Amino acid sequence: MRDEFLDPGVGHETNVGEVELEEGIRPRALDEFIGQRELKEHLAIVMEAARRREQPVDHLLFAGPPGLGKTTLAGIVATEMGTQLHITSGPALERAGDLAAILTKLEDHDVLFIDEIHRLNRAVEEILYPAMEDFQLDIVVGKGPAASSIRLTMPPFTLVGATTRTGMITGPLRDRFGLVARLDYYDHDELQAIVVRAAGIFDISIDPLGAFEIARRSRGTPRIANRLLRRVRDFAEVRADGSITAKVAEEGLALFGVDNRGLDKVDRALLAALCKQFHGGPVGLSTLAISVGEQPETVEDVYEPFLITQGMIARTPRGRVALAAAYDHVGITAPAKVQNGSLFD
Ligand SMILES: Nc1ncnc2c1ncn2[C@@H]1O[C@H](COP(=O)(O)OP(=O)(O)O)[C@@H](O)[C@H]1O
Ligand SMILES: [Mg+2]
Repeated sequence: MRDEFLDPGVGHETNVGEVELEEGIRPRALDEFIGQRELKEHLAIVMEAARRREQPVDHLLFAGPPGLGKTTLAGIVATEMGTQLHITSGPALERAGDLAAILTKLEDHDVLFIDEIHRLNRAVEEILYPAMEDFQLDIVVGKGPAASSIRLTMPPFTLVGATTRTGMITGPLRDRFGLVARLDYYDHDELQAIVVRAAGIFDISIDPLGAFEIARRSRGTPRIANRLLRRVRDFAEVRADGSITAKVAEEGLALFGVDNRGLDKVDRALLAALCKQFHGGPVGLSTLAISVGEQPETVEDVYEPFLITQGMIARTPRGRVALAAAYDHVGITAPAKVQNGSLFD
């Protein structure tokens, strides 16, 4: 069963309450955005240069797992540049006309954010090329042999694309971005700062070790850190005196199924399937995903990247394999081929 509380993949399809909560704590200025130091520095320079030239910011592409701050950064660019943010997503743009309708609404230097841009279809993507490159919009009027195309000049704008999969962006689209940045998982100290900041906004009483305990178990992901904070707050109010200490955080997180390394039910099911059912692999992505009742894309975009950074899973040409840390976590002895490192021979 999917745990809606902890699902790290939940994004724009989240329930309304959660979206509102997220909006409340979304950093608005670059200074409030914690971590991703290098990316922030690049962005600051790109924005300052654009300001001096009185041009829109170059088109930006943000890649990385869900919940690391891609949407937040798009909003920050608009706020810092004093322009409007328009939000849409790849799957929402079914026809070329859907995109044309949005593009014609843009004003000078506005920011258009396209989430999941790797899911744009070809026809829509082709409208985007001249728009990005020359701020030209080709609109087809009429149908069949009588159809003709008119070209409109649109105000200069900034396209911000977000994707969980850089590999799925076509070359021509990728080449039209002035800056392509990968967001990395956050370290414990950065997540601790994010938890403390969110606790301040929600008026939650938390001590530094309590914040660290939540940070440590957040899969390197701000969205999860903020969500775990709310769950632990509930726990603290009902089962303790309302303040979050390390002990309260630990107990609360255990109750909600987040383990010592921050893995949730699905993570653990994946590791167990890989180590036990498939004897450590190699096993194909779809087979593995089906065995835990998830979509292959979800496993690939959401769960696997973190397990890889944790040294638990590896991708090989023949499929996914379990590494020593996975056996360790599942609590079984790793076979000799894993222990002596001959796994990749
Ligand atoms: N660097 C950060 N500092 C503080 N909060 C952040 C940071 N990155 C993300 N968040 C918080 O995490 C949540 C998810 O971020 P979001 O931008 O929606 O992620 P993405 O678009 O990459 O899935 C937001 O509510 C935001 O408040
Ligand atoms: Mg997003």
